Amino acid sequence: MLYDFEARLARPTALKIADLERNGRLKHVIFSRQFNRELIDHLCGIASMIQDLAQIPEGREFLGGRLAHLRAMLYFTQPSTRTFLSFMAACQMLGLTCNEIRDPSVSSEYKGESKFDSVRMFSSYFDLIIMRTREPRLAECCAYLMNDLDDFNQRSVPVVNGGSGADEHPTQALLDVYTAQRCFEFTSERDAPRRISFEALRARNPTLKKGLPGKTYCFCGDIGRGRTIRSFVNLLSLYSGVRMIFVSPEHERLRLPEELRARLLQSGVEVQESRDLDKVIEEVDLLYMTRIQHEWDTGDDKTSLKGADLSRYWLTQKLVSRMKEHAVILHPFPRNEEIAVEIDTDPRALYFTQARNGMWIRAALIAYLFDVDGAIMRTHPKLFAERHDYNLGNI
Ligand code: NCD
Repeated sequence: MLYDFEARLARPTALKIADLERNGRLKHVIFSRQFNRELIDHLCGIASMIQDLAQIPEGREFLGGRLAHLRAMLYFTQPSTRTFLSFMAACQMLGLTCNEIRDPSVSSEYKGESKFDSVRMFSSYFDLIIMRTREPRLAECCAYLMNDLDDFNQRSVPVVNGGSGADEHPTQALLDVYTAQRCFEFTSERDAPRRISFEALRARNPTLKKGLPGKTYCFCGDIGRGRTIRSFVNLLSLYSGVRMIFVSPEHERLRLPEELRARLLQSGVEVQESRDLDKVIEEVDLLYMTRIQHEWDTGDDKTSLKGADLSRYWLTQKLVSRMKEHAVILHPFPRNEEIAVEIDTDPRALYFTQARNGMWIRAALIAYLFDVDGAIMRTHPKLFAERHDYNLGNI
């Protein structure tokens, strides 16, 4: 029977992953754990190529012709700025036409149509469904629905999860890992124009190494309810020698969930919890700030959080001045008061670059889903081999 997902939802994530693939490639993107190191490196490589190609007219023309025959539906009924716009920009860059539903009261859901009927309708007119909803696991159910349609020889299109409930945000994890990877290569001027060169950093800190392994990652704010953290740590746990410090209020719903701690320990991550950013700030290589997600507060949380001193989870200029000079500050945004605006001009504050990276990595993901990543890999060296700026050398 269609729309019957209970048994599939009840399985452990590891058992679901094969259902989301077709012919050895991802068909749907629902969980961050669908990405392994090889796929992350591949997508980051494609994202950097797209970023280069988008700088030159021939590159833009090439990209814009790749998927011009396809249409994407952005079904975003939960508030979104960056995820929505960067997905739309990514689609447009590759030539896809986009349509959107952001307000279910102007769709047939208002007339009582089920979400599954709506999504099935989207698949009749579109070639890709990107969705964000408040309901947890809805994107997962829609992926199963598409698989069932496939089994009945009906039209079936990829579903990409742009944030479902408080559980997962896999493409945010991709852009976070892409940003971290680029920052810890210490080479790209584009990511951080005012950052100190690797050689200069090494001269003062001889043990500093390039890359994600062996670094200390600190997550601060709403650990328990932040889906971006949950998804990002899954990717970071694929790297060796990783240490993670979780800084949050003591509150049971905001602190590191036991289930996540156990999973991280099992993947070999060194896990530490702290109640005070001030105590750990000097040890951190990458600081991932998040806001307290009050929209998930229940009646009880509202009263218990009222007296809490949340300013211990705010980043101040004084704290930043004590951070390592090569450290990176990220934030998935939107921010509230946890990062003072004065910090934005510090060379370590890379959250705006991070948000822009979302566009490149999402374009890479869409290119991969529709199998034009190979064409990008072949064209990138060709276009750049033929380009010279005789004053600056090869671009
Ligand atoms: C986050 C989200 O929606 O999960 N934003 C985003 O997608 N970049 C984080 C948040 O809402 O705090």
